[in-house]
Amino acid sequence: MPITGIYGPDDFTNRPQAQTARTHVMPARTGAALPMPSLEWTPEVEQATAHLYERVKHVIPPIEWPLMAPTIKAINELKRARNAVILAHNYQTPEIFHCVADIGGDSLQLAVEATKVKADIIVQCGVHFMAETSKLLNPDKTVLIPDQRAGCSLAASITGADVRLLREKFPGVPVVAYVNTSAEVKAEVDICCTSSNAVQVVESLNAPSVIFLPDRYLASYVASKTDVKIIAWKGACEVHERFTGDELRSLREADPSVQIIAHPECPPDVLAEADFTGSTAHMINWVRAKRPKRLVMITECSMADNVHAELPDVEMLRPCNLCPHMKRITLANILESLLTLGEEVTIEPELAVRARRSVERMINLKN
Ligand code: 13P
Ligand code: SF4
Repeated sequence: MPITGIYGPDDFTNRPQAQTARTHVMPARTGAALPMPSLEWTPEVEQATAHLYERVKHVIPPIEWPLMAPTIKAINELKRARNAVILAHNYQTPEIFHCVADIGGDSLQLAVEATKVKADIIVQCGVHFMAETSKLLNPDKTVLIPDQRAGCSLAASITGADVRLLREKFPGVPVVAYVNTSAEVKAEVDICCTSSNAVQVVESLNAPSVIFLPDRYLASYVASKTDVKIIAWKGACEVHERFTGDELRSLREADPSVQIIAHPECPPDVLAEADFTGSTAHMINWVRAKRPKRLVMITECSMADNVHAELPDVEMLRPCNLCPHMKRITLANILESLLTLGEEVTIEPELAVRARRSVERMINLKN
């Protein structure tokens, strides 16, 4: 059924000004820095990274490898020296995702894997809300984000005060927050979800109505899959909202055999044209199982590169959109992060206790 209501900042005349965030990104600690290693392309570097080039040779031209390989080797050595792990989202570029990440995946996989980390340091190659989630689940570890400006249009669309206003308007209605929210918002809600488990999370509450925020399009996708009445927020992903149904129809007209799969952050007219809708991990699993000849992934550009690196026989058409926030993470700033131990994500302890509860409730849901 369609979503029951949709609200945004303009619907609340008493909406307070945004408060100062209670999560922080601390600069590198003084005295912690290690010296910059040599980043020369040498026969030794070529040999040491040859097995990594094998993983990305279908998506990174040989001429570009000498520019990347010395930094990749230095990062992998520093990870050992620092006892650090790198968690990378599926939207990270192939040289990060396939060559320096220890764990890659969608938001749910990264959150679950974050609960199992043994290392002292987590370097989050993704956006700020992902680093916050890792910190919530690992309060005693150092969590670093290579560029603190890696934000998200969804996380920026709503504040903790907005959630309190929604609760006043709909007393007793439970609130589900997409993980693409700040810790401040997570602290105000009943449970989190990702695009992998959104329908399951909504139904787990056994309520006739649920407030689902902040993604209006993920909310309408969930509403189409459940009888629970969904009250939504007016947020949107700036990457997925740009796709159109017309774009997908033209692709199909040009080649009726093409398979098109889309992320549920896309608008409903886009999802109506897709052969499959799922989170980034569900999309990857679908491609592994179906092995289509020609494929379009209606999502962030690096997804197609990362899948093509693994499955070169699947021909990718790439009408993708780049996420400017994900693309702030580079080999150069990952290296910098490991050298200087900056920039560290911290969350005020009282806020962290409440936000952690919402994330853990989601992780502890039975499959
Ligand atoms: P998933 O990888 O969980 O599908 O999320 C997509 C996304 O946009 C993350 O920012
Ligand atoms: Fe946020 Fe969209 Fe970028 Fe994901 S792709 S980080 S949802 S702006």
